[in-house]
Amino acid sequence: MSKSLPVVPTSLQVNGRSVEVLAHPSSRLSDVLRDELILTGTKIGCHAGDCGACTVLLDDRQVCSCIVGLGQCAGRSVTTVEGLAAKDGRLSDLQQAFHKHGAAQCGICTPGMLMAATDLLRRNSKPDEQQVLDALGGVLCRCTGYRKIVEAVLAVAQGDLAILAPPAGKAVGSRAPKIDGIAKLTGAELYGADRAPAGSLWLRAVRSPHARAQFSLGDFKPLFAKHPGLVDIVTSLDVPENSFGIFPDVKDQPVFAAITTKTKANTNAAGGAGEGRVRFRGEAVCALVGDYETLLRIRDEAVPITWLPQTALLDSAEALADTREPLHANNPDNILIRGRVVKGDAGKAIAAAAFVAQGAFSTSHVEHGYIEPEAGYAERFTENGVERIRVFASTQTPYMDRDEIARILKLQPGQVHIIPSAIGGGFGGKLDIAIQPMLAVAAWKIGRPVRGVFTRPESMVSTTKRHPATMQVRFACDAKGYLLAADFQGDFNTGAYASWGNTVANRVPIHASGPYFVPNVEANTRAVYTNNAIAGAFRGFGVPQSTLAHETLLDDLAAKTGIDRLEFRLINAIRAGQATATGQVLKASAGLGQCLEALKPGWLKAQAECKAFNAIASSEGKGGKTAHLRRGVGVACMWYGCGNTGIANPSTMRAGLTRAGRIMFYNGAVDIGQGSNTTLLQVLADAIGLPMSDIDFIMGDTDLTADAGKTSASRQAFVSGTASRLAGEQLRARMIALTEAEPDAALRLEDGDLVATDSAGEKRITLAAMPCDERGEVLFGEGTFNPPTLPLDKDGQGVPYATYAFAAQMAEVEVDIELGTVKVLRIGAAHDVGRALNLTQVEGQVHGGVAQGLGLALMEDYQAGKTDNLHDYLMPTVGDIPPIDVFLIEDPEPLGPYGAKGVGEPALIATAPAIFGAIRDATGVVIRHAPATPDRLRKLLLDQKV
Ligand code: FES
Repeated sequence: MSKSLPVVPTSLQVNGRSVEVLAHPSSRLSDVLRDELILTGTKIGCHAGDCGACTVLLDDRQVCSCIVGLGQCAGRSVTTVEGLAAKDGRLSDLQQAFHKHGAAQCGICTPGMLMAATDLLRRNSKPDEQQVLDALGGVLCRCTGYRKIVEAVLAVAQGDLAILAPPAGKAVGSRAPKIDGIAKLTGAELYGADRAPAGSLWLRAVRSPHARAQFSLGDFKPLFAKHPGLVDIVTSLDVPENSFGIFPDVKDQPVFAAITTKTKANTNAAGGAGEGRVRFRGEAVCALVGDYETLLRIRDEAVPITWLPQTALLDSAEALADTREPLHANNPDNILIRGRVVKGDAGKAIAAAAFVAQGAFSTSHVEHGYIEPEAGYAERFTENGVERIRVFASTQTPYMDRDEIARILKLQPGQVHIIPSAIGGGFGGKLDIAIQPMLAVAAWKIGRPVRGVFTRPESMVSTTKRHPATMQVRFACDAKGYLLAADFQGDFNTGAYASWGNTVANRVPIHASGPYFVPNVEANTRAVYTNNAIAGAFRGFGVPQSTLAHETLLDDLAAKTGIDRLEFRLINAIRAGQATATGQVLKASAGLGQCLEALKPGWLKAQAECKAFNAIASSEGKGGKTAHLRRGVGVACMWYGCGNTGIANPSTMRAGLTRAGRIMFYNGAVDIGQGSNTTLLQVLADAIGLPMSDIDFIMGDTDLTADAGKTSASRQAFVSGTASRLAGEQLRARMIALTEAEPDAALRLEDGDLVATDSAGEKRITLAAMPCDERGEVLFGEGTFNPPTLPLDKDGQGVPYATYAFAAQMAEVEVDIELGTVKVLRIGAAHDVGRALNLTQVEGQVHGGVAQGLGLALMEDYQAGKTDNLHDYLMPTVGDIPPIDVFLIEDPEPLGPYGAKGVGEPALIATAPAIFGAIRDATGVVIRHAPATPDRLRKLLLDQKV
């Protein structure tokens, strides 16, 4: 908050309390609430009035507090999320409804949503759905797909608020509310920007405005002289090992763009000089460290950097064609890596096939759009004589962060302590370290705690995106419609640094023939370095892009064979006992056929309704009410291997029985909103045989929890879920042994005692009297699970994943053929999840995935330098998301916890191709580039004279 301007006292009411704030009247209300009044429940996602996370009530009407000046609030009443619950801590009806209906996932938008809904409910206690949509339209949510939020607001009027906690042994498969839900609903949850040691310095990166340039740093001394609050300027020369990356053999990304110094002078107050190069717009070249006010005052242009811009290679074709100056010396052809899967002879099979479909497809950059920008702090400390560094930040992978920070600082991993903050959305984007290494380097060098928060444009320009893909694809089938071959050639623009490009290039060929039995497959991919935004992990690791291609071609083949599109998929759906493209024979849990069967009644009905609608619309003369509209329905399928691709994938979970008579669950899997804190605890509870309420938990702290691996690749429910079950079973066995009870005895914790009841009666152990370990635990259980996989050979043959998720989705759309706009009317989403550990959470994952899939299909198009904000970068709002019918298919996975496998990424993958199929059904136009924005669709409609 700016204090450089004159401060004046402003009196206002905040949550019913009179306060006086000393600040300039132009100070943002959001900053006053957070920084002066320590009401950090109000979140900041953009500081521009675009995301609505900071929504509060001003005199009972919702406002974006980041664009309201303090002076506007004088004498008025402000209500924040902290003011919603009753004084005794009871949740308001609205909060209770959110809790019951699973309306908060990561929770970063939740305060804003609650305040917007409170505004509505105070004026209208029984709103209809449209009124709810209107009231929430200013608040973005990237996780939930909005449907459960709308459901929760409507539930208040219906009094649908009661929550029934599942009894012991019945947690799995229940609708248990989030165990961390109340903190998200009251503003108590602490995200990366919400906590830092007192006296922390601030850090702000200075970034390249050019996609490709050489640069040199000038003399910093005048800057220090002019700004006494500037403590340091950190550059690559301060980084002990200035490189990081996901893979052990690809550490190609610098913390700061590397410079070489000609003198020993560093870039500190003594001044410095050097030369370096940047490879993408937004690359950090140095970071200013000082007090907040000083950093606000120093404009980037004031930092002495001389730029020599060069011609940038922005897409794969350009980078493949121009290798005169490759981006990285180790990759002279600008190719990071190639992926390949070959089974049979696809070329020969295609040549002999009755029907062949082929096409070229492409996709754009897609931004993760999590509402919480990267944020956190780092502090250097000494513990037991050992120098250490602690990093508190928003992350999907604390152990990888620990190892990378250790490598960068040339420390032992044990010297690094990662504490994950609550995570305000990730979707793959927080698998890479971003703000963490800069904070760690600065704190280590300066010896004082350093905090930072990326601005929204900074977050968008500097962090990873979904890979743009260019794909040439052929599919072939016989006269009866049985698939014979698939041929896929794809280039994936991985941007300036590798990030997860290796994973995308390897995962896509495995999935490129779709969830079908295809006897002949050839799939080749290349991840290509360019000077564009870094592309990394984003919900699906490239599979959403390749699915767009194969589902379009399946529609082509269905048309050529005269077989209904859903039936065509049904006859080709891969089943247990059949081999995938990698030669892996599926042993169990291959429920695509059941997914398609679940959709079939709605499919037939929707087809009839669209036909009837279009008959009327096309018969109306110009100016008729529906003459410009056409409706269609599409269907698409997907599959997704759960976990890492063909490499070790372990997770370890631990649970202890404390002397206080509680269970402590040490859960190293970070919950990024998908609900793993809750679902893994459900698994543990049932494995022990105790109610969830007996269990406390610690998430992801690298000093306290074991390594559960990263939260990505839809692996935590499957991998960490099984580890949780094993930990619970071992603890239960030890509790049974301690009580000398029968194996199936009922256990309970009561007044600090462990009580076992079996056929012989009740046995009671007073835990406080028992010896314990250094954690205060009398007993513990530990479980490790590493799903069985086999590495792929040179032709991509092997067992890359232990299990696969399957789904079929259908979309009904209405196309305005004059404007090129598309309204999605309804989505049906049938998902084989093995076992739904928590019905509410699984539905929420599906809803959220569908919303992101809709964005991928119709609107999301990131362009560096043009759409680096949430105003120009369009993501679905509450009004864009139609009703979603979720069909949960439970074809149990024997290796999964109680049969479960992943759903996080599968939820998104089939949505966009289903929408494209529906647009084609409505208009005849085939979409070959995502997103199908109105301008692009309008052009296609005109070209085809629709
Ligand atoms: Fe809405 Fe995460 S729950 S952004």
